[in-house]
Amino acid sequence: MRDPQRAMPCLDNLQRPLRDLRISVTDRCNLRCTYCMPGEVFGRDFVFLRHAELLSFEEIVRVAKQSIGLGVRKIRLSGGEPLLRHGIERLVEMLAGLHGDDGKPIELAMTSNGTLLAKKARTLKDAGLKRLNISLDALDENIFRRMSGSNVSPEIVLEGIAAAQSAGLTPVKVNAVVKRGINEGEILPLIRHFRHTGVIMRFIEYMDVGNTNGWRLDDVVTAREILARINQEHPLAPIDLHAQNEVAQRWAFQDGGGEIGVITSVTQTFCHTCSRLRLSTDGKLYTCLFATEGVDLRAFLRAQSGDDAALRQRIAATWHCRTDRYSQLRHEMTEALPGRIEMSYIGG
Ligand code: GTP
Ligand code: 5AD
Ligand code: SF4
Ligand code: SF4
Repeated sequence: MRDPQRAMPCLDNLQRPLRDLRISVTDRCNLRCTYCMPGEVFGRDFVFLRHAELLSFEEIVRVAKQSIGLGVRKIRLSGGEPLLRHGIERLVEMLAGLHGDDGKPIELAMTSNGTLLAKKARTLKDAGLKRLNISLDALDENIFRRMSGSNVSPEIVLEGIAAAQSAGLTPVKVNAVVKRGINEGEILPLIRHFRHTGVIMRFIEYMDVGNTNGWRLDDVVTAREILARINQEHPLAPIDLHAQNEVAQRWAFQDGGGEIGVITSVTQTFCHTCSRLRLSTDGKLYTCLFATEGVDLRAFLRAQSGDDAALRQRIAATWHCRTDRYSQLRHEMTEALPGRIEMSYIGG
């Protein structure tokens, strides 16, 4: 029977409903993108979480189930690099079986760097994953290596993208963070490469997440500039229809070559529709990508192993108190907040 309480959306302090849960399954990555895990900081001596500190799959599923009871309809697995988490296919299978109170399966997606995908795409699809977003900042070998702080070739990622497409993990979205003077010259090559392929190419304004990437406003290439470059070669038209809580603005090629997106976290903020709750690798709930503190669920999960009602209550209380709108307030701040969590820990 339908639980009448569940029909009520769980609203935060600014009347925003809880709709999405982003789960970081590992803080490790095999790349060292300069804007996320710069090699100088995340070097040999960097201490990552130990296995016992990570939430187990069973613990993650408990949190997911209770969040779904509060209105979550989309779950995104991320990292670090989620495919580095041992047995990730099993977690996908466990989550793919969950349904909302409307009887529909939740939308299960993943954000990955694509380097391990060629081997895993089919298994992920069979386990119940619906779609994938894959990061690729450049097609040029040297620029890709510079952006990703690695010796990996972009060809490996292209193979991963092709594997995701043929496994039906579609629509595949490709994310490129654009840094001034480094990969802005790759915008058009990426567009030319992915037009007419069904892949949705998205460009992301470089954000001031974490404390380690040395972010400067001057390094941000704005969505406006990005769109102007693309529009000159391939005229674009806006697509109106998009989910209220999506982060990307969508544009279509006027000649029918498909669609693209821009994520304008710096210049046109979207905090007013933000419905995303984040679960860190070690089991803390964060209500903003730029938060400085989370609410620990791990100790609670381990101490109160059976009490799901109390767990739901704790998640609901965390959401109810939420007032975050960091990007919107950034312009009013004279300096960045110290102690912000790192993207690789919270999963973007
Ligand atoms: P779909 O719309 O479901 O395809 O996914 P997504 O775009 O929400 O997820 P993805 O992991 O591909 O994120 C794309 C970019 O948007 C990344 O740079 C994220 O860090 C950024 N992003 C996602 N959610 C938020 C958010 O709530 N606030 C901000 N400022 N950026 C976000
Ligand atoms: N600014 C914008 N996007 C970022 N990502 C990682 N760090 C940043 C940043 N500083 C992106 C990655 C990935 C997604 C999860 O977040 O490229 O596509
Ligand atoms: Fe790894 Fe993604 Fe961060 Fe790059 S952006 S270092 S691929 S987690
Ligand atoms: Fe949501 Fe925080 Fe991003 Fe604003 S800055 S959209 S509140 S995660």
